Amino acid sequence: MTDHYAVIGNPIAHSKSPQIHKMFAQQTGQDISYDKFEAPLGGFKEKIDELRKKGYRGCNVTVPFKQDAWRLAAPTPRALDAEAVNTLEFINGEIIGDNTDGVGLVRDIEQNLGIALKDKRILLIGAGGAAQGVLHPLLEASQNPLVVKPLVISNRSPEKAASLKKNIEHHERFSLFSVEAVEFGDLNDEQFDVVINATSAGLKEEMPDIPESIFASGALAYDMMYGRETPFMKFAREHGAAKVSDGLGMLVEQAAESFYIWRGVRPATTPAIATLRQS
Ligand code: ATR
Repeated sequence: MTDHYAVIGNPIAHSKSPQIHKMFAQQTGQDISYDKFEAPLGGFKEKIDELRKKGYRGCNVTVPFKQDAWRLAAPTPRALDAEAVNTLEFINGEIIGDNTDGVGLVRDIEQNLGIALKDKRILLIGAGGAAQGVLHPLLEASQNPLVVKPLVISNRSPEKAASLKKNIEHHERFSLFSVEAVEFGDLNDEQFDVVINATSAGLKEEMPDIPESIFASGALAYDMMYGRETPFMKFAREHGAAKVSDGLGMLVEQAAESFYIWRGVRPATTPAIATLRQS
């Protein structure tokens, strides 16, 4: 019997998730369907109730509903860290909420781009939902409690970066981890091995106001947006980043982790990324 899944967002027309999950299903032989639905703003819970009544087994959640999903679901530890949910599983009358964005980013950087994060100097730009969603997995992947190099967060509105830092400091499981909040203007003498743009600046063809000297030798510049070259990616190419990537691999990796949660089978992501790059 076919099991039904979907992605819910607003807008949703351009979502690549159905294409990705169909590739995964074909590759693994899993008998699933995967639709996309737009819920009206303020109408997320009703949409979820409807899907559950229809017998759906789970869904992905995208902008702007990740916080609604977080409030609705019983959260996993990853969702608790992220304070947002992108994967729902409907199981035994319960709604479980997980977050696969952070693990998706880490896998894309480490496995697809071949860059080990352990002990790297990392700059996370932005302090909105996208940054919060990946911060804890990034810390776990990069820090070695014996040789702590703080992960640096920098945001246009400095108080939001300071608040993310505070959250980490008050988090028992992260007591050995170290985060610094630094204003854009104070980054002039700093260089990083991995610079991640988690702002939405690229949507407006803008970029964060970071210095040209920010990229250490061999640095990776990673923009969590995908679909086109952002001003941040162009800036990185022009100012010494050795590798520049968009977030398409992260999109596929977060989907693969959702697929694994639902089906217990881990799909190969490389062919899916290659297909999406060609389309
Ligand atoms: P998301 O869920 O995508 O993170 P968000 O919570 O609205 O969306 O956060 C957007 C992030 O992009 C914020 O960090 C924002 O900076 P502010 O907190 O100062 O608003 C950042 N951002 C958006 N446009 C930007 C720009 N042109 N330059 C720098 N940062 C920008």
